[in-house]
Amino acid sequence: MKQDFWLQRWKDKQIGFHQTDGHPLLHEHWPQLSLVPAARVLVPLCGKSQDMHWLAGRGHHVTGIEFSAVAAREFFDEAGLAYRRERVGAFDCYIGGRITIRVGDIFDLPRSDLARFEGFYDRAALIALPEDLRHAYVDHLMGGLRRGATGLLITFGYDPSLMDGPPFNVDDEDVGELYGRYAHVDLLAERRGLPESDHLRDRGLTATRDGIYLIVRR
Ligand SMILES: C[S@@+](CC[C@H](N)C(=O)[O-])C[C@H]1O[C@@H](n2cnc3c(N)ncnc32)[C@H](O)[C@@H]1O
Repeated sequence: MKQDFWLQRWKDKQIGFHQTDGHPLLHEHWPQLSLVPAARVLVPLCGKSQDMHWLAGRGHHVTGIEFSAVAAREFFDEAGLAYRRERVGAFDCYIGGRITIRVGDIFDLPRSDLARFEGFYDRAALIALPEDLRHAYVDHLMGGLRRGATGLLITFGYDPSLMDGPPFNVDDEDVGELYGRYAHVDLLAERRGLPESDHLRDRGLTATRDGIYLIVRR
């Protein structure tokens, strides 16, 4: 999707994807990555995800990448966390505690920066992108991450004839096709259910599926 689309969503507070308590499956599955507390963790397309607080609470150094400065400001302000700002390359960085949100385009993150991360967490990033961008995103991410880097990917699935994305329907086959060239991919768990939010029910969804994958860069 184009940057203007997302900036407008943040401006209009149309952020139905945001989870005020973070994602319920992160806590259960993150330990399987076996990352040391001091590991550097990338959170692509982070919004103001509360999961970044949880990851930082485990000792990780967390870097989120996000188009919207509104999201970055709200993330720190709502937590009562002080931050400073710094320009780094193409990014306006908001830095507070162990968390940095780089405001800018993920595709502007240089490979040399990507190579510094030992871990990543993708919830509602891959599925926010239409198919053509999804390939470019995975190629960029996996092309830059070091061998052995490991991440948790959470996808969202539904009958695509019922609704247009975002969020886009992503299934096991898509994940294998996108990541299989670069990484070992393991489906850790799946959760089937009814759409949790009104905005998805209003758009016609009747059944959903979350897939949780462990990705290890080869
Ligand atoms: C569906 S939201 C998910 C946010 C977050 N991961 C969460 O779980 O709440 C997708 C976010 O990605 C951001 N975004 C989309 N494309 C981007 C890009 N190319 N670079 C940086 N941020 C992007 C949007 O502004 C939006 O906040």
